[in-house]
Amino acid sequence: MAQNWTPGSWRQKPIQQVPEYPDAAALAATEATLATYPPLVFAGEARRLKKQLANVAEGNAFLLQGGDCAESFLEHGADNIRDFFRAFLQMAVVLTYGAQLPVVKVGRIAGQFAKPRSSNVEVQDGVSLPSYRGDIINGIEFNEASRIPSPERQLDAYRQSAATLNLLRAFAMGGYANLENVHQWMLGFIKDSPQADRYRKLADRISETMDFMKAIGISADSNPSLRETDFFTSHEALLLGYEEALTRVDSTSGDWYATSGHMLWIGDRTRQLDHAHVEYFRGIKNPIGLKCGPSLTPDNLIELIDALNPANEAGRLTLICRFGHDKVADSLPKLIRAVEKEGRKVVWSCDPMHGNTITLNHYKTRPFERILSEVESFFQIHRAEGTHPGGIHIEMTGKDVTECTGGARAVTADSLSDRYHTHCDPRLNADQALELAFLLSERMKSGRDEKRLAIANA
Ligand code: TRP
Ligand code: MN
Repeated sequence: MAQNWTPGSWRQKPIQQVPEYPDAAALAATEATLATYPPLVFAGEARRLKKQLANVAEGNAFLLQGGDCAESFLEHGADNIRDFFRAFLQMAVVLTYGAQLPVVKVGRIAGQFAKPRSSNVEVQDGVSLPSYRGDIINGIEFNEASRIPSPERQLDAYRQSAATLNLLRAFAMGGYANLENVHQWMLGFIKDSPQADRYRKLADRISETMDFMKAIGISADSNPSLRETDFFTSHEALLLGYEEALTRVDSTSGDWYATSGHMLWIGDRTRQLDHAHVEYFRGIKNPIGLKCGPSLTPDNLIELIDALNPANEAGRLTLICRFGHDKVADSLPKLIRAVEKEGRKVVWSCDPMHGNTITLNHYKTRPFERILSEVESFFQIHRAEGTHPGGIHIEMTGKDVTECTGGARAVTADSLSDRYHTHCDPRLNADQALELAFLLSERMKSGRDEKRLAIANA
């Protein structure tokens, strides 16, 4: 691998999933404009996230990462962001309570706009057009004009990311995430679901604890950790021209950082060792993710770790496993053993969404029970291997959508069409996301009890 890295050295490498812009000069001009814009995140924040992820790698915290499959220009509203953030906070509080571990909070948001596709073209009624690749590249409407990649979309994506991030920072630091508000995060449409009762009971216990602490002099006014939370952003860094334009030297350390988000990941389709995406990622200092699908061999994985985390720094690399409920038992143990044998420090995270996509009534969907089954297997396998099931990576929304089947208020194959709004893959609705959080919290609680018992008996 070439030794001299620059933010643009990926351009010398073969690349997958690259859109064909008809006007190269216009693309270059847009990238030059973006390069003059302020960074969206600050390197110090990325370092803070890396430290928190190191804590996960060491088994002392849990990673919650989630958000839309693809953000869209059309649905960029305050309500959407707030509802997502509420659902996310509810999950976080359930997990913190269950695991009695810090939960590292990372949204798939404020930059999640570019999508890898399995086919370059989409055919509808005999008409063939370029595939939709995410709002940062082209339009979802099925007509020729909208499917032509347009560079100006990158400026819109940048602005939307900035505005979204601004609101999220305000929510996280400005009082909305205060634990005293734990009851208020309940979303209207969840109120009469089975999850609502469980959540209310948990929120009651937290409120009671807060009241007790207040009585002994520990209040949210005097303790920022009760009223604020660290919320980080992440996305798949697929469109490397955009990423390059936002790659900046951090003046404190002299290192290069991607400033389009705190954490970036490499997709399962673009993780070839000698290709462009791995080249770009090896030079940035952010915490990064690597999607691991069934085709990844243990040797492949170790080579990728050598390239991406040569210093074996804990918190640098999160392995986001997306095998499918029926393949995880086959694929995951051998990867864990290879990583353990080589003594590599990684965060193991489970993406139970992408290996479990099926088509029903012409809708792309994911059965909730398969999602739960992959998560269960992930936990069991880690317990058997003696490693830490460090986190979860999900596609979710704060809205009452009908995109994944199942859940306690069962979405059926026939009800998929009711509120199927996703721009790309099917997401968990807020109800399903909360149900998943309760399941996770139970698994972590029993893991914790087992550990304590083992220590007591030692
Ligand atoms: N600051 C702590 C944390 O982020 C506690 C906390 C505050 C919290 N607000 C929260 C936890 C909302 C979960 C959700 O973990
Ligand atoms: Mn997806």
